[in-house]
Amino acid sequence: MDFSSFRKDFPLLRNVVYLDSAALSLAPTPVLEATMEYYREYNANVKRGVHRLSQIASQKYKNAHRKIARFINAEEDEITLTKNTTESINMVAAGLSWKDGDRVISTLSEHHSNFLPWKRLERFGVAVDLLAPRQDGAFDLAQLEALIGTRTRLLAMTHISSVLGTVSPIEEAGRICAEKNILFLVDGAQSVPRVPVDVRKLGCDFLCFSGHKMLGPTGTGVLWMRKKFLSVLQPLLFGGGMIRDVAVEGFELIEGYERFEGGTPNIAGFLGLGRAVDYLTEIGMDAVQARETVLTERMLDGLTGIDGVEIYGTTDVRRRIGVVSFNISGKNPHDVALMLDQAGDVMVRSGHHCCMPLMKHLGLVDGAVRASLALYTSEEDVDRFLKTVEGVAK
Ligand SMILES: Cc1ncc(COP(=O)(O)O)c(C=O)c1O
Repeated sequence: MDFSSFRKDFPLLRNVVYLDSAALSLAPTPVLEATMEYYREYNANVKRGVHRLSQIASQKYKNAHRKIARFINAEEDEITLTKNTTESINMVAAGLSWKDGDRVISTLSEHHSNFLPWKRLERFGVAVDLLAPRQDGAFDLAQLEALIGTRTRLLAMTHISSVLGTVSPIEEAGRICAEKNILFLVDGAQSVPRVPVDVRKLGCDFLCFSGHKMLGPTGTGVLWMRKKFLSVLQPLLFGGGMIRDVAVEGFELIEGYERFEGGTPNIAGFLGLGRAVDYLTEIGMDAVQARETVLTERMLDGLTGIDGVEIYGTTDVRRRIGVVSFNISGKNPHDVALMLDQAGDVMVRSGHHCCMPLMKHLGLVDGAVRASLALYTSEEDVDRFLKTVEGVAK
């Protein structure tokens, strides 16, 4: 497949080498058009009005919802549309009922979004146990099993680390959780945009991800949950659009995922995400992953050959993907990121990447520089990045 043909859909790439897709991916023109079409042609609220514009908007919104569910091989009524991964994870942490003495397992590789919602539960008497990754980012499943005790209720684990790019053994962890009868939440913020994800295979109970990391507009996220939790989880937000009946004495919630979607949603955003999902599906997630693997190898090979560069995580591309963190000896990561911008128009992330516990675990006081790829990254982008890094390291 000729990936260079997609670059015309990302006009920003004319000016910069964009290597910050793990934070936010660029949205292609068809996605922008889908959002603009809504504002131009049927700019009305959804699920509420009987007038023509509201009917059109509601139908398109429903179609987008269905497409997004299908993208992860879910049924339509198993996903709830949220603002981002952070909101999705918080909905689960705050929506389950906890007892004093319950325990949750999280890992030291988590983004703060999959760490703080669980740590916050400590004030309700819930203890958080932490699984540490090895230096190369891999998890030891025997250690995971050893951490599971009689009061453990849930494991929260990232599918792909947003710092080290390491792919976690999710299916194996899912089997362990099923055997031990504990809930399993997977943070798919970095995996859903990069590799084929099938919720029927993962073995988890909850999957959370963000639309703006998978070519969609900002402020779009997804929470997938097994159907049985639709009536177990308490909603985070209460208001319009999620009730069956309201009286002065009380209220009755609607059944199904809509009880979690109180208030007017990000309509334009999800119409855009529906189009983003079409875009990715037309290319195929196997092809997206294969392309990213080729570019990751090129980037890792290049970085390995530059004096003074230290790469974090494994360099084995069978176990990782294109989120690459590194430092240049003696240089602050923020300075390096600024120099890459100024000297080569290269956009990378720097600092702790919202993963302070991992940075502390790795002994990286100032954090690291992170270059992350997407399907629109070219060989030329990677080479220009490498040449600029070489210049900065001299
Ligand atoms: C692995 C992972 N989890 C969670 C998040 C949080 O995503 P959001 O800011 O869209 O809520 C990120 C964002 O970078 C991430 O990489």
